Amino acid sequence: MATMDEEMFKLSVRNLTKEYPNDDSGETQVLDHISFDVYKGEFLGIVGPSGCGKTTLLKIIAGLLEPDEGQILIDGQEVESGHNRVGYIFQQESLFPWRTVRQNIEFGLEVKGVSERERRGKSDEIIKIVGMEGLEKNYPHEISGGQARKTEMARSLVVSPDMLIADEAFSNLDAQTRNYLQEEFLRIQSLTGSTIVFVSHNVDEAVFMSDRIIVLSNLPARIMAEYKVDIPKPRTRTSQDCLAYRSKILDILSVEQKKAMSRLSKPKQPDMIDIPCPYCGHKNGEDARKCEKCGASI
Ligand SMILES: Nc1ncnc2c1ncn2[C@@H]1O[C@H](COP(=O)(O)OP(=O)(O)O)[C@@H](O)[C@H]1O
Ligand SMILES: [Mg+2]
Repeated sequence: MATMDEEMFKLSVRNLTKEYPNDDSGETQVLDHISFDVYKGEFLGIVGPSGCGKTTLLKIIAGLLEPDEGQILIDGQEVESGHNRVGYIFQQESLFPWRTVRQNIEFGLEVKGVSERERRGKSDEIIKIVGMEGLEKNYPHEISGGQARKTEMARSLVVSPDMLIADEAFSNLDAQTRNYLQEEFLRIQSLTGSTIVFVSHNVDEAVFMSDRIIVLSNLPARIMAEYKVDIPKPRTRTSQDCLAYRSKILDILSVEQKKAMSRLSKPKQPDMIDIPCPYCGHKNGEDARKCEKCGASI
């Protein structure tokens, strides 16, 4: 029988592992036994160094990619890849330029064969929620970057109002638009009650928006830390509370980032090179996973 907690979970990620083939005809492990749960209506932020496997994780959750091991449960039920149960907002803008705002928003409903009348009713409702009234007939080149992101959010919500996944959704926007959209996302979530998993490399953004934050390690991604962000919303970005979370998370990430950089910048030949431990500076062999001197995992 499901426990009380399990009934409150929208999403459960169990033991996900993923490897990709690499240039040396071997395999690179990207995800290392990742497990976590997301409560219904929760805003979960995920931060991690660049290249650590965040997009891979999201694609597996969204059913766009198969894991090597592990399961995804939505509403307590295991789902297979291709499940189509969550809306996905990509890092790059992905509106169809030849379709109007409304036609873009209705796209997923059209694919599902929903009648024109029902499509119109649903898109009207979501257009109001995201605040895009009056722009329905505009084409993507006739709206701002922020409005384009809201249109994408509407396009996802109209098909999957329960759960949205966003992959660095605001990373290509100017700071002002980004701040505006963060507030808009929270406002829209408060109206729809959606569960949101939001990946960002921007720690301020994660702290401003999230109910809880998971910090991923350098490749292969493991969960390094988890913080419940105990600050009432709406938050003030520059408050002491927000800054305290920010600095805790940045401390962990900066160590992980250094490890990522030392791996990225290492030459392929010769086979054995020294990687300085980011904690104590001791130089370890290329394949070391633990520092020989201080024992830290590297
Ligand atoms: N299809 C693929 N084939 C091989 N390697 C990949 C593929 N997709 C991503 N990778 C590698 O997997 C690692 C994680 O990628 P990704 O999930 O995009 O990380 P992030 O989103 O955190 O930047 C990177 O080192 C990347 O180069
Ligand atoms: Mg990514």
